[in-house]
This record gives sequence, structure tokens and C-alpha cells, in this order.
Amino acid sequence: MINEKELLSLISANKALLEEYAEKFLFTDDASLRTVYDSMNYSFTAGGKRVRPFLAIESAKIFGGAVDIVLPAACAIEMIHTYSLIHDDLPCMDDDDLRRGKPTNHRVYGEAVAVLAGDALLTEAFSTVADAYGLSDSKKVALISLLAGCAGARGMIGGQLVDLESEGNRIPLETLQKMHSLKTGQLIRASCLIGAICADYGAGTPQYAALDTYARKIGMVFQIVDDILDTTSTAEVLGKNIGSDRENDKTTYMSFYSVSEALDVARCLTNEAISVISPYDTNGVLSAFASYLLNREF
Ligand code: IPE
Ligand code: IPE
Ligand code: MG
Ligand code: MG
Ligand code: MG
Repeated sequence: MINEKELLSLISANKALLEEYAEKFLFTDDASLRTVYDSMNYSFTAGGKRVRPFLAIESAKIFGGAVDIVLPAACAIEMIHTYSLIHDDLPCMDDDDLRRGKPTNHRVYGEAVAVLAGDALLTEAFSTVADAYGLSDSKKVALISLLAGCAGARGMIGGQLVDLESEGNRIPLETLQKMHSLKTGQLIRASCLIGAICADYGAGTPQYAALDTYARKIGMVFQIVDDILDTTSTAEVLGKNIGSDRENDKTTYMSFYSVSEALDVARCLTNEAISVISPYDTNGVLSAFASYLLNREF
């Protein structure tokens, strides 16, 4: 079973793989396009935990999938995630000034370029998969369909809409849970299912179903912890300003639970995620990662 030190070094190794792979997509020789590429790079290379590529890579590996095969879609999901953050921070959304320890994209490049950089990262994600060398056409189609579904109006975007509509307007717990499962859960779900598809386990297989359930549960945990950290952390540790949810009068887990109650819910979901994946998780990597996400401080 993987220990904590080994998990941390695997996280850094996967981060390095992803960042090296992504470099070639975020580059242009055309000086007239420099600003949008600079803006895309600014946010993409600002750091970030690279949780979603880690999940894609390790979900593929537990089912015998090769890292080379999963890297294009792992990169695509991080591009989509980075785009979602750029747009999430815009004045018309959460209006935040700090992200990944740096001024938000629109604070540096202006709102119009930030919108374009987000759009460009989203579209680049799809060409990264469509043009990938070594992926079969059927895998490409399955991955593109998965990414589009999870990122779109039935997925992350839908969750962002519910989030905006919850501002200043207390929504019931079930609506909050739905919002979390969409705005954050669907990209996390896509990350794990990328792994299943790349390892040749499609929908309908028990392997795909196990990853799906694991991902849905850790996705909920991820946003519960995000809501907690917005009230308990510091900007230095988190790399983003705290108190953003309160300032925007959002409904979050903190609207219903104390920190310790919310952590109890998160702990319970984490245990369920671990129990569903453990029959397949022979080295304990996905189990250890679920605990790492529960206990994260940033
Ligand atoms: C932040 O995601 C937005 C949420 C979905 C909660 P992360 O916490 O994964 O952000 P980075 O990628 O590490 O910056
Ligand atoms: C973000 O939720 C979900 C996204 C789709 C980006 P938050 O608005 O809580 O994320 P942070 O706290 O700004 O990272
Ligand atoms: Mg938001
Ligand atoms: Mg936000
Ligand atoms: Mg948040």
C-alpha cells in the first residue's frame, strides 16, 4: 500500500508529466496572437494542484491503462478546469482578485482577454484529444463526448448557473448538493472516467461504474472542503482570497453545517468512495488520494 510520502511524490511526478505535455499546446510563433497565449499560459502555469489529471492518470493505471494514452485527455481536463476558474473569477461571476497565488487573469489581461483565454483553453482541450497521436478514433469520440457532457450545460456550466442563482437567495440543501455535483463533481467525474475509457473500460462495465461512484463521492467532498476552506483558511495558504462566498452571499455547505458537521459528511462520503474503489485499487493510490483530498489544507 502506498504511504503518504510515496503519494506526495506521485502527485509531483504526475504534475511534472502533465506540465511538460501541456507546454506545446500553449505556444505560438505568431506574434499577433501573443496576448491570448500569454493569458492562457498565465493561468495554466500558475500552479494548481493538478487534481484532475492525477485522477485521470491513476484511474487509467489501476485498470492497466498506459500513461501515454491518458495524457492528452488528462491535459484536456486541466485546460477545461483552468478555463472554468478564469471565468469563475470574472467580475460578473465571483469577482475575485487572487487565484493560484497570483492576481486573477482579468486583473492582469482585462476582462475581454480573460474571456477569450478561457474560451481558447476550452476549445484547445478538444483539439488536444482530437489530434492526439496514438489514440484510436473510437476512444477519441468517447473522450470528447465525455468532456463535452461534463463541462457543458448539463455539467459544470449548469452547476455554475445554479451557483449564481443561489446568490442572496437561500436554496435548499438538495439544490446545493445538486449544484456541487454539477459545478465541481462533473469535471472530477470526467477525470476518473477518462481513466476508464483510456484503459478500455466503457460504460456498462463494473470498472467504469466503480470509478463513476468513487468520483461522484470525492467530487462532493472536494466542494464541501472548498466551502470550508473559504471560511477557515488564509489567502497565503489557499492562493485565493477567503470569504469570497460570504461576500457574494452564496449558499454553501457552511450555510447548513458547522465546520465539524460538514467534515463529518465529507469523511463519510470519503469512506464510501474508498470502499467502492478498493477492490480494484491494489496499490491503494485512489484510496490514499481520496483521504488526501479530504484532509487538504489548500
Ligand atoms: C478550485 O479547484 C475550484 C473548485 C472546483 C472547487 P482546485 O482547488 O482544484 O483549484 P486548483 O486547480 O488547485 O487551482
Ligand atoms: C467553483 O466553485 C467551481 C467552478 C466550476 C470553477 P467556487 O467558485 O467555490 O471555486 P473557487 O472557490 O472560486 O475556487
Ligand atoms: Mg464560483
Ligand atoms: Mg469562485
Ligand atoms: Mg469556493
